[in-house]
Amino acid sequence: MSSPGNRRIVSKPLVWAVVPAAGKGSRMGSEIPKQYLTLAGKQVLEHTLGILIGHPRITAVVLVVSADDVRWPIVAEQFEQGLNVVTGGAERCHSVLAGLNCLREHADDRDWVLVHDAARPCLRVSDIDQMLNNLNESVWGGILAAPVRDTLKRCSTNGEIEQTVDRTRLWHALTPQMFRLGDLRTAINTALESGLIVTDEAQAIEAAGGRPMIVEGHADNIKITHPEDLALAEMYLQIQGRS
Ligand code: CTP
Ligand code: MG
Repeated sequence: MSSPGNRRIVSKPLVWAVVPAAGKGSRMGSEIPKQYLTLAGKQVLEHTLGILIGHPRITAVVLVVSADDVRWPIVAEQFEQGLNVVTGGAERCHSVLAGLNCLREHADDRDWVLVHDAARPCLRVSDIDQMLNNLNESVWGGILAAPVRDTLKRCSTNGEIEQTVDRTRLWHALTPQMFRLGDLRTAINTALESGLIVTDEAQAIEAAGGRPMIVEGHADNIKITHPEDLALAEMYLQIQGRS
């Protein structure tokens, strides 16, 4: 990976991407981790990386794989350009932090980083563009999200409904999540030091007192989580003309 960060004096922040792909996919119940399952003729990870590597504003992508990943080397051959690979950790936030630490020697702390789950292969280029356009001038950055559409219920431990929750201003957090490299690295480190295992990047920034923005994205940017999600993702890729 080149090191434009070292050559720049004062210039526009660059955009980098970190793709956490070090999970086991336990809810999927498959022996093969879900990022390596086949979806419309390619592995899930190939779809995800293709979108990010092919984006003209993204300088380079850092892929985070697990220490015992035997599948990545087989897929790796087709991704020689613009990709750095590091080893992840026990939780998603440890894996993201490993990716951010790798960027440290190449990027400036003011540069933007898009963190995007390997398990979300249906991300649209137009949603990346929307994020970059909307958040470029923001203080903290923000996340792609979809408005909650169903009626929400809070229930007791025995399954009785106690309350209908007002869904106005409630959003599903998606990825990419876009923050400044320095802010995000500090925020995740601080969260971990205080024993907080954040489940997304925004949570770390929020805990540090930041106010990330919401960028409305398409709801087809699903995270493959359960077996039935594969067929759904395949259909979304087909509708997008990507299969
Ligand atoms: N991830 C990671 N490192 C971890 C855990 C998760 O890089 N220690 C990645 C996954 O590979 C995935 C993304 O974070 O691309 C979102 O996580 P999730 O959907 O929860 O994936 P898994 O943890 O693999 O699945 P499960 O929770 O069902 O085990
Ligand atoms: Mg998980």
